[in-house]
Amino acid sequence: MSGLPSSFKLFTGALIPSLGFGTWQAAKGQVGNAVAHALRTGYRHIDCAYIYGNEEEVGAAIKDSGIPRKELWITSKLWNGFHRPQDVEDMYHKSAKDLQAGYLDLYLIHWPVAFGLGADGKPANRPLDKDGNLVVDYALTDDYLSTWRAMEALVDKGTARHIGISNFNIRKTKDLLSKAKIRPAVNQVEMNFHWPQHELVKWAKANNVLLEAYSPLGSGDRAKEMLADPTIVEIARKNGIAPSRILLSWQIQRGNVVLAKSVTPSRIEDNFFVQKLLAEDFEALEKISAEYPNKSRVVNPSWGGLDVFEDGKPQE
Ligand SMILES: NC(=O)c1ccc[n+]([C@@H]2O[C@H](COP(=O)([O-])OP(=O)(O)OC[C@H]3O[C@@H](n4cnc5c(N)ncnc54)[C@H](OP(=O)(O)O)[C@@H]3O)[C@@H](O)[C@H]2O)c1
Repeated sequence: MSGLPSSFKLFTGALIPSLGFGTWQAAKGQVGNAVAHALRTGYRHIDCAYIYGNEEEVGAAIKDSGIPRKELWITSKLWNGFHRPQDVEDMYHKSAKDLQAGYLDLYLIHWPVAFGLGADGKPANRPLDKDGNLVVDYALTDDYLSTWRAMEALVDKGTARHIGISNFNIRKTKDLLSKAKIRPAVNQVEMNFHWPQHELVKWAKANNVLLEAYSPLGSGDRAKEMLADPTIVEIARKNGIAPSRILLSWQIQRGNVVLAKSVTPSRIEDNFFVQKLLAEDFEALEKISAEYPNKSRVVNPSWGGLDVFEDGKPQE
């Protein structure tokens, strides 16, 4: 981690490792080996979620590593089907148990979107109506505060160490901050060279909200495109390091936690050795990303036609 902070301090005084290992789209049968390799390499922060469908295998790899629990930072997320306040604690315990973690360092509301109940009247991962459309519970989607109150209860009881949000825009974050008894410790959002979130980064810094950058390499197929971007390739060549390391280092140097996923051992290692960038390279990344002409999110679901991020129509 040469020259970059290895952790950021949260308002509780706890230190969150600045580099985390992602587990989305890491298939069963692969994810355990990937997490084991990441832990051997030195990662101590693992980013998980119930909906990734792989928490049991991740948990087994963490357990087998033999690394003392207190040296690890484990995050999981509450899925959209379980925003009803009475479901929050059960889902927390399911993730904590599958991950064999005892407790979670951080539990996030995965999306500011709540699904309706399934056909059997029970919470479901993806409830569909008779035409096969996803059912969104619009009332609960707007009322993320009642879900947040149940999240706060997890901290009050000493169950979760920290709680936070994910995929919240500025308007929703401001609204939640004005009503929350416990501040969200982080907001986990997409941030990368083609979706740099300059406005959000500035706002978050001014309002003391730590951001976590997901899909920092572009995720899946877009990673190939982002890692081949001429600006990134040139800065990587000049410094004699892998392009991925430029993208990850840049996020930490901007003051964000960064989460990178790979199931490939050599890449897991490449990504781990982030380093402080030269001021001229950092400034070039800031400037060129701001001017990038084809900005678009990689992760942009529109469940039930919702404009989740309100990109089309900001509601101030
Ligand atoms: N809160 C949310 O809604 C949300 C959404 C998305 C992601 N996340 C979290 O953020 C984590 C990271 O984001 P992500 O998984 O979307 O994408 P990412 O980390 O930006 O990119 C992962 C992709 O890049 C490839 N890759 C990794 N290192 C590479 C390297 N050094 N050279 C070339 N290719 C490389 C991986 O391939 P291989 O695996 O085949 O090596 C994979 O296809 C997720 O795993 C998840 O934990 C959260």
